[in-house]
Amino acid sequence: MSDSAAEQKGMASKAHAEVHSDEEATLEGKSYRLKIFRGDAEGGKEVEYEIEAIEGMVVLDAVLKIQAEQANDLAVRWNCKAAHCGSCSAEINGRPKLLCKTRVEEYEGQEIRVHPIRAFPVIKDLVSDVSWNYGVSAQIQPFTTSEQAPFTMYEEDVERLYEPKKCIECFMCQDVCHVLRTHHKHPEFAGPRFFVRSQWLEMHPKDEGNRLQFLKEGRGGVQLCNITKCCSEVCPVGIHITDNSIIPLKERVADEYYDPAKWLMRKIRGRRNGSSNGNGGTRSTHARAGIRTNG
Ligand code: SF4
Ligand code: SF4
Ligand code: FES
Repeated sequence: MSDSAAEQKGMASKAHAEVHSDEEATLEGKSYRLKIFRGDAEGGKEVEYEIEAIEGMVVLDAVLKIQAEQANDLAVRWNCKAAHCGSCSAEINGRPKLLCKTRVEEYEGQEIRVHPIRAFPVIKDLVSDVSWNYGVSAQIQPFTTSEQAPFTMYEEDVERLYEPKKCIECFMCQDVCHVLRTHHKHPEFAGPRFFVRSQWLEMHPKDEGNRLQFLKEGRGGVQLCNITKCCSEVCPVGIHITDNSIIPLKERVADEYYDPAKWLMRKIRGRRNGSSNGNGGTRSTHARAGIRTNG
């Protein structure tokens, strides 16, 4: 390399270093303001914090920085920091979000107000008590099969099972659903998360359970859903909750309960079984065969 080429290269590196350090300086000079809910079930208020900006920072990073440097007693739930565990769900500017998947830059020029998810009781600060959901889950008949279950599983049936299995139980769909959030129908409505779970079970070709009675007459309450699609819009893993879970379940409930022939059969079965819940281990032919193609 000639002297002048070396000199030019040296100047270029120096210029690059200066630009790089300028960029870092700009970011260092930048700060974010977050208003975070501080309180518990008795009440609380927003407290404002200012933090130095870090490149690529997500809201969870910002909250943890505040916790480390300014508010050691700030409660926040998180685990994986990779949008897999579903535990960091909260509301940012009134909308449910995963704190670890939401970049602070998205709110450039706006307020960043962080609150706990509202459809469930607050324990402290950003942590809500979501245990109600596990109680609902326990009431859904689990995967039930026997040697009589079909041996062959067709590809189209298996494909239908992938999407509902992506659920990370963040409960953001539960949070945004007006039936729970606004109308507080928790005792009679399972919520979109559990329609997704029920759909997976009902469409599994080897499952022989029957959750239609739970969905219609039990705690499921699928008829209370008016298909607003708000749940689908917030799902961080892109499950088409209304189109692929709720609507097919509503159709199966309608088939089972409002088809006059099936209604009669259910009555007869109920009398024979000495019970009227219609859940004597039989499924509709439609459901047993897992033949939905538009789910
Ligand atoms: S579509 Fe149904 S379950 Fe989903 S948010 Fe709307 S009312 Fe709730
Ligand atoms: S369906 Fe989506 S929004 Fe609802 S709990 Fe599962 S991952 Fe979260
Ligand atoms: S920390 Fe696991 S999803 Fe955010």
